[in-house]
Amino acid sequence: MIQRKSAREIELMHEAGRLVASIHKEIAKLIKPGITTLEIDTFVEDYLRNNGAKPAQKGYQGYQYATCASINDEICHGFPRKEPLKNGDVVTVDFVADLNGALADSAWTHLVGDVPDEVKKLCDVTKEALYIGIRQAVDGNRVGDIGAAIEAFVNQYGYGIVRDFAGHGIGPTIHEEPNIPHFGSSGKGKRLKEGMVITIEPMINMGLWASQMDNNGWTARTVDGSLSVQYEHTIAITNDGPIILTEQEGF
Ligand code: MF3
Ligand code: CO
Repeated sequence: MIQRKSAREIELMHEAGRLVASIHKEIAKLIKPGITTLEIDTFVEDYLRNNGAKPAQKGYQGYQYATCASINDEICHGFPRKEPLKNGDVVTVDFVADLNGALADSAWTHLVGDVPDEVKKLCDVTKEALYIGIRQAVDGNRVGDIGAAIEAFVNQYGYGIVRDFAGHGIGPTIHEEPNIPHFGSSGKGKRLKEGMVITIEPMINMGLWASQMDNNGWTARTVDGSLSVQYEHTIAITNDGPIILTEQEGF
């Protein structure tokens, strides 16, 4: 069953989303060689709690941290750790805020120190792919329209689109129907309706799309060892078009 939210519920999720966005902007300032992803995790948890929110990922299906921190060839669900980030790393920080029961989920990839231009390009393309997907998140479209638009755009660059993880409906729990793949066929899949709140979160690999699971049962990484980056927003589908609840610009 796909949950649809009232305008009031969407506003509460937007409040959670504004908090998530402000934390991502703070993380961007903290990221530099030498900081650890465990320190970032503590920062995020403290910031959430100081603002009356909870880290929704902590305890979710046994996950132990407030954030996921996925470095270099890690695609998603990397564990925060005590090894410092190094110059040239890329790290995706992903977390979900629970503000009075309203959830918002966003991931952002950060460059650590100096990285090659080809890595910046991978990030720029992935971020643009997210926004291209968001433009399809309108009442009356189908889920496949989102994936098809992302796939057509990303394929021009020869990157791999991760197939084993997808965006999702969100609220009242983190993962709700529908599944939102980042590839697909336009006109196919479930119909998008006003009131649905979803995430779009393309994970794009410099090389092949294939992923493998670490022994920890959580962390996915690229099979070929290539870099993987990700940008994710929580989006409400409304009669006025898509509203990005976790937008970092313009407020
Ligand atoms: N934020 C993640 C997502 O985008 C959810 C991670 S669930 C966790 O789907 F348990 F790994 F935290
Ligand atoms: Co997320």
